[in-house]
Amino acid sequence: MSMEETPVRLNRSPGPTYREILDTDRVKPPRHFYEEKPFYDGSDSIPVERYISREFHELEKRHMWRTTWQMACREEHIPEVGDTFVYEICDMSFLVVRSAPDEIRAYWNFCRHRGRQLLTQSTWTPVLRCPFHSFTWNLDGSLAYVPTEWDFPHVDCDELGLLSVGVGRWGGFVFINPSPGGETLEEYMGEMIEHSAPWHFETRFVEAHVAKIFEANWKIVEEAFMESFHVAATHPQQMVRLGDVNTQYDCYGNFSRALHPSGVPSPLLKWTPTEQEMLDNMLDIREGEDAIIVLPEGETLRSFAAIVGRDQLRPAIGDEADTVSDAELIDAMEYTLLPNFHPWAAFQRAVYRFTPYGDDHERSVMEVMLISPFSGERPKPAERILLGPDESWTKPGVLGITGRILDQDSTNIAAVQRGLRSAPPAGLEVTLYQESRIRHFHKWLMDRIDAGRQRDRTSS
Ligand SMILES: [Fe+2]
Repeated sequence: MSMEETPVRLNRSPGPTYREILDTDRVKPPRHFYEEKPFYDGSDSIPVERYISREFHELEKRHMWRTTWQMACREEHIPEVGDTFVYEICDMSFLVVRSAPDEIRAYWNFCRHRGRQLLTQSTWTPVLRCPFHSFTWNLDGSLAYVPTEWDFPHVDCDELGLLSVGVGRWGGFVFINPSPGGETLEEYMGEMIEHSAPWHFETRFVEAHVAKIFEANWKIVEEAFMESFHVAATHPQQMVRLGDVNTQYDCYGNFSRALHPSGVPSPLLKWTPTEQEMLDNMLDIREGEDAIIVLPEGETLRSFAAIVGRDQLRPAIGDEADTVSDAELIDAMEYTLLPNFHPWAAFQRAVYRFTPYGDDHERSVMEVMLISPFSGERPKPAERILLGPDESWTKPGVLGITGRILDQDSTNIAAVQRGLRSAPPAGLEVTLYQESRIRHFHKWLMDRIDAGRQRDRTSS
């Protein structure tokens, strides 16, 4: 069975579906918003070992991280020829180099003489010179200088270029793949390119960049952001105006998405808020306070928020704002390009990335970039701020309300790892629909690991 066939009708929450909510909107979204791609591949539990075992981490490294497209940096991190970004994943290190004004190359960060890392931090450099014995390569990876060449009569210098890896560029992001095997980034992303084209991520800059260390496997952190089933327990304040369990989850080849409807209450609430009460909740109006904005006659929160959103967009894109759909202006929609890249859709600015912390399978780093539009000269990207496991996302003061919501999410993560570590030998029973993106992620991961093991068996 292919990953995209669904042999059963998965149960869905009471309340309107996302498509029914779209039907009430004035400006309708692009066609793909009406597309449903539910994922079903059985109801197996998820083995706990995938989060706590060192052996599984080694399999991920060998059969997944070494063979998959992954976001390394933004193009604006390396604007000038010679700018070099050190990208590290687990115990692997790569150099992403602006080798010509419109050319980016990437290499294993490895001297072909004695193996020293050529660079240990991102910098500008005219050539890539090893600090150990001065072996030197040009930015295009060709060998430029061999010290005491007379002593290397056994080596063909033309063959001693840096070992390159695959590079792909999309939306202002630079991706690498240590062994792409002939598959381009475009082929890998598939329909996600068409979905995201109107949002022009390439015209933005990194306005804020905050990272935080978690005491948990990287997949635990990532999976906490792949469903909105947790909203009622973890972010109960959002239930008044977020159709948490009405979220639509779609799984494609190498990516998945969640479309979370805003401006409708959670079906789990015991009361039905009015449109004005939903707006007051959105604006954080408390008991006894007057409304800041009274909804105009005949407007719902959805329709009104779309009007406001369009007006905010007008200075940047002019009358084109009139064609932007209500859904793109007000709904929370996020994509996951597997394994670990989460851009929020449309005009939301957040992009998440989840990686192991160094080569540690029980610690990880979650990064949040806010990518924002700009006018005039491209501003420099924000420096990354790294927070410890006990520090609040609000500490740097650059993430706004998102920092407070991320703090709510963060309360669960390390406790999940501790629970798993102490677990009896039992699998995790996750939902069929609401956590289908997690099931799809695990299927994707296991397909890669199984294929890699098969390759190892046939080659040995
Ligand atoms: Fe959350």
